[in-house]
Amino acid sequence: MAFDLIITNATLPDGSTGQTIAVEGERIVYVGPAVPAGDVIETIDAGGRLVSPPLVDAHFHLDATLALGTDGKYNESGTLAEGIALWDEIRPHLSAENFKRRAVEYCHLAISQGLLAIRTHVDVTPVNLLGVEVLLEVQKEMAPHIDLQLVAFPQMGYFSSPQMADNLNRALDMGCNVVGGIPHLEPTYELGQESVQVLCRIAAERGLMVDLHCDENDDPLSRHVEMLAYETKRLGLQRRVTGSHLTSMHSMDNFYASRLITMMAKAEMHVAANPLANMFLQGRFDTYPKRRGLTRIPELLAAGCLVAMGHDSVLDPWYPLGRGDMLDVAFMAVHASHMSSRSAIPQTFACVSEMPAEIMGLEGYGLAPGSYADLVLHEATDTIEAVRLRLPRRAVVRRGKIVSRSIASEVGAPVIGGGFVGTRLSL
Ligand code: FE2
Repeated sequence: MAFDLIITNATLPDGSTGQTIAVEGERIVYVGPAVPAGDVIETIDAGGRLVSPPLVDAHFHLDATLALGTDGKYNESGTLAEGIALWDEIRPHLSAENFKRRAVEYCHLAISQGLLAIRTHVDVTPVNLLGVEVLLEVQKEMAPHIDLQLVAFPQMGYFSSPQMADNLNRALDMGCNVVGGIPHLEPTYELGQESVQVLCRIAAERGLMVDLHCDENDDPLSRHVEMLAYETKRLGLQRRVTGSHLTSMHSMDNFYASRLITMMAKAEMHVAANPLANMFLQGRFDTYPKRRGLTRIPELLAAGCLVAMGHDSVLDPWYPLGRGDMLDVAFMAVHASHMSSRSAIPQTFACVSEMPAEIMGLEGYGLAPGSYADLVLHEATDTIEAVRLRLPRRAVVRRGKIVSRSIASEVGAPVIGGGFVGTRLSL
C-alpha cells in the first residue's frame, strides 16, 4: 500500500495512546496500534501528543469580526444592547472589500489553530444583503480550507421592519444554509413567540436547520426557548434545531429549568453556549452578586442535548478581545460552568470539536477510517492539557495536507497567509 501521510505515536481524544493514523488522498484509511507497511510520502511522529479531529465553532459572526473600533467607535458599556446598536451604526459604512478582508483574515487565524469549520450568522438587515453576498463568496473560495455554514440572521428582529421577511427569504434563496432569528429582540414578547413559529415553519418548508439567538438576557421569565422546543417537536424538526445563547436559563427558577431541559432533550434540540461572549455581556445590570449569564451546560449535557461552545465574537462591537482559539472558549467554560472534574474537562473539549460537528451535520468528520483526513496535532498530551496550555497547534492537516505548523515544530513551510502567532500557515 502507499500512504500520503502517516502520523505515529498519537494519543487520541478518547485517551488511547500509541495510535497510528494513515491517510490516503483526502481520507483516513487506518487508525490503530499497528504501523501499516507501505510507501509513505510524509510521516509525522506525534511523540505521544494529542491528535484530534478539527476544532469546530458552531456559533460565530464572520460579518462583524475584526470590525472593532470602526469609525473610532467602541462599546463602552459592554452590554449586548450597545453592541447591537453600534453594529447597526457602523454596518452601512462597511464595503464589500472590507467584509471580505476581515472574513478571510479570520479564516486564516482559525485554520492556523485547527479550527476548520464555522457556523456563522450573517445579518440580513440591509436590503442589498451585502454581507450575505460577500460571505457566500468567501464560503466558496475558502471551501478547500475550511467549512463555512451560513445562518440567515435578522439581527434587528424578524418583525423589526417590513422588509425583513423578504430579506431573510432572499438570503435563503441565495444559498444561506440555516434559518436564524432573535425572538427576545422582537418589538413585543408575543411577536418574539410568533417569530419562533414563523422561522421554524420556514425551515420545515425548506428542509433547513434552525439556529436562533434565543433568550440572550438575564430575564428569568424569558420563555422563547420553550416555544422553540415545542415547535421543534410539533414540526418534526428533531436534531435540526439549535438554541443559541439561552442565557436566561441561568437565572430561571430551578424547577422550571429542569422541566424545560427535559422538554428540550425530548425534542432533541441542540444548544450553542458562548462562554466568553456571555461571561462578558451578561450580568451588566447586576450590582453584586453578578450573575454569570451562561446557560446550564452540564445539566443540558446530562439530559442528552448536544452542546456546542461557540466563540461568538472576536474583536467586534460585542467583544473587544479574542484570538479565535476554541481552546480559550473551553477554558472559560471549565471555570464559568464549574466543568472541572477529570471527566468534565474533556467534555469541554468535545463541546468545541465533535459536538458542534454533529450539530452542523459535517460530513466525514472524525477519526474513523473513511473520515476526511482533517486533523490537529496539539502541543499537549491529552485533552485536559490542551485546554490547560492552549499552545499553538503543532500541525494542522486539511484533506490530507499539512496546512499549518507551529514554529516550535521546527519544520519550515512557506508563509503566504496570516495566522496565529507562533504558526506558519501555507494554504
Ligand atoms: Fe451570536
